[in-house]
Amino acid sequence: MESLLKNVLDMALNCVNSFDRQTAFYAAVGSASFYFLVFPEIQKVFEFNAMPGCQKMFAPACREKKIELFSTLKENPVNSDGEVVVLELGVSFGPNLEYYPKGITFVGSDLHDFGKDQLREKCTSLGLDFKGYVIASAEDLSQIPTSSVSAIVTTLVTCSFKDCIKAFREIHRVLIPGGKYYFFEHTKEFNGSLKQHMFQFAAFPLLISLFYCHNRRTQLRDIEQIFGADNVNARREMIEFGVNDLIALAIRPHVYGTATKALY
Ligand SMILES: C[S@@+](CC[C@H](N)C(=O)[O-])C[C@H]1O[C@@H](n2cnc3c(N)ncnc32)[C@H](O)[C@@H]1O
Repeated sequence: MESLLKNVLDMALNCVNSFDRQTAFYAAVGSASFYFLVFPEIQKVFEFNAMPGCQKMFAPACREKKIELFSTLKENPVNSDGEVVVLELGVSFGPNLEYYPKGITFVGSDLHDFGKDQLREKCTSLGLDFKGYVIASAEDLSQIPTSSVSAIVTTLVTCSFKDCIKAFREIHRVLIPGGKYYFFEHTKEFNGSLKQHMFQFAAFPLLISLFYCHNRRTQLRDIEQIFGADNVNARREMIEFGVNDLIALAIRPHVYGTATKALY
């Protein structure tokens, strides 16, 4: 038994020693992926620490579009205390806060609270009122009362939902009637480009294992199903990040806009 284990170990070491740099990289990603899928807690820590770097790459191409999208946040209906409460789901370290208008009341939410202290500090420096933080998945917002939130935001989050319909139903439930859900999400290829489909298929194993990200979601269809197509105002657009990296190429197709909870 001992010699069998030794032989297997020797074979593994010989194999690793013969790797060139590219093979070693894929082997590392492969084994990391295995651990991420088996131990989701490791995946959350990895993702939280990787996001600031990813956002450095994504933010410049999205900046103007996000400024325009979030410019109406303050126009949403107030809650019973007279506040415009904006709930951001999958908030991470808060890359969107800089686009929010001053004077709103902010509530952060994610599957974990790694970013909570950072968010509180950012809100103070940006003139936003930090009201609290909720650890929850979008599919279960039971800690938040029905019709209590003025607006909800997600950016690059719906690709990780385990159940989109359930999550959009929860988002719809907690919004005050007349309040808006703001989304800025990468989506499934929509122009019929074979090349783009190939990028998305090729990047799928990497994205799913590192970020639990499904890059071929059809969020717009699901949002329209829950909010009603007439209440959705969205654009589909290819966003060029200016980087020839497989992930950046795969997530170019975007959908962004708002869905309003009908008054009646
Ligand atoms: C790719 S990051 C995006 C972070 C940030 N919104 C941004 O634009 O950079 C996805 C975030 O969504 C969170 N997340 C994943 N699944 C979620 C779910 N089912 N409900 C709420 N948040 C989720 C992750 O923990 C992570 O912080």
